[in-house]
Amino acid sequence: PAFFQVAIDGPASAGKSTIAKILASQLHFVYVDTGAMYRAVTVAAKKAGLSYGDEAGITALLPTIQIDFEPGQPVQKVFLNGEEVTEAIRSTEVTNNVSLVSSYGAVRSDMVEKQRAMTEKNPVIMDGRDIGTTVLPNAQVKIFLIASVDERAARRYKENKEKGMKVDLETLKDEIKARDYKDSHRAISPLTKAADAIEVDTTGIGIDEVVAKIKKIIEEHQ
Ligand code: C5P
Repeated sequence: PAFFQVAIDGPASAGKSTIAKILASQLHFVYVDTGAMYRAVTVAAKKAGLSYGDEAGITALLPTIQIDFEPGQPVQKVFLNGEEVTEAIRSTEVTNNVSLVSSYGAVRSDMVEKQRAMTEKNPVIMDGRDIGTTVLPNAQVKIFLIASVDERAARRYKENKEKGMKVDLETLKDEIKARDYKDSHRAISPLTKAADAIEVDTTGIGIDEVVAKIKKIIEEHQ
């Protein structure tokens, strides 16, 4: 690729976006949050009054969907057809239905096209589920970020608490497991580690240490 590409994939709540955002700002790369894009499509379906199971309806909606990012730290703003949906895309309802919406072939091909277009003018760090396997198969660096389900649920619990959202730890754990299962078992580009991805286990490791580790890997490939 003409511009440097870093792909970060892994299961839900493994810390992908936290790590990717820090790396992008330190390295002056563009950060692309592909999960936010699938979440925005899910919000668009709801706004259009469609049920999440309505594949034909959601497919027909795709040409009307415009997704934009406004870079920022720590939160990157997300817009759906000009309207800010930064918070709406993180609701429990969206989180629990996004795996179904993102399993549709037309949704995936549309998002993949948009994601690839974002790599044409800048070096990128892109996080998601199928970046190393499908979206950017020639990425110079591929990371597969994992952590134990207990730790992932605990991180999400802490985040939710800070936002004033009350969901108990066991429910969060069940939701994370269910989402991982759906994401790794769908027919089209399921979550899997690319053959040439480097696995980084963040269980018990602080953010700074993970960032340093991946930064070193990127520097070795530059
Ligand atoms: O990364 P995040 O947890 O926000 O992603 C939300 C959902 O979007 C995932 O659970 C998955 O269903 C879908 N997704 C995907 N492919 C990607 C990124 C996210 O299918 N590259």
